[in-house]
Amino acid sequence: MGGANHLAQFILLETMVLETFSIREYHPDDFDAVTILWRIAREKAMPEFQRAKGYFFFQDRDYFQNHLLNDNRVWVVEQNGRAVAFMAMRNDFIDHLYVDPECQRQGVGKMLLDLAREKSPDHVWLYTLQINANARAFYEKNGFTAEKFGVSPAPESEPDVEYHWRNT
Ligand SMILES: CC(C)(COP(=O)(O)OP(=O)(O)OC[C@H]1O[C@@H](n2cnc3c(N)ncnc32)[C@H](O)[C@@H]1OP(=O)(O)O)[C@@H](O)C(=O)NCCC(=O)NCCS
Repeated sequence: MGGANHLAQFILLETMVLETFSIREYHPDDFDAVTILWRIAREKAMPEFQRAKGYFFFQDRDYFQNHLLNDNRVWVVEQNGRAVAFMAMRNDFIDHLYVDPECQRQGVGKMLLDLAREKSPDHVWLYTLQINANARAFYEKNGFTAEKFGVSPAPESEPDVEYHWRNT
């Protein structure tokens, strides 16, 4: 009986440890995992928009390598050694924040926003598309306010929202 209890406790503990998410800096070995999760998260969030844009995966990878990594500092969330989310940030601006759909609504996005606020304690801002209702709910839940409605730069040219969080 005691042995069974210990086994159950061990399994519970092991599950808790295995499910832990941790944040670290991006490493070049993350490239495949992160570009794949970026693609999957976008397709899940806005399937029609992604289809209409028709970007190829090699274009995602090129953009990630030659723009996103050049312009930003990037952090990765991992679980069991697998990259499940990333955030790209420069100064007080979040350029990209994506969570693998399998790991969404488990607090991973908030972990990354908390890191952003740690790095930039007074102010953080970002853009998201107006049609991205889930992302907008996420930012608003985390204290961000929509301050400006506009259009993203060409070639995307989609209605967007500028969100700000201020440490008031
Ligand atoms: C938006 C996103 C970053 C949120 O990350 P996350 O890890 O799921 O968020 P958290 O678990 O920290 O917070 C969950 C909260 O966000 C909002 N939210 C996230 N996903 C949602 C969904 N599918 N439907 C409704 N609300 C959602 C809700 O307020 C939710 O709170 P609740 O679960 O108590 O209702 C993630 O869903 C994602 O990567 N989406 C696709 C990519 C994207 O849109 N990125 C932002 C581009 S600017």
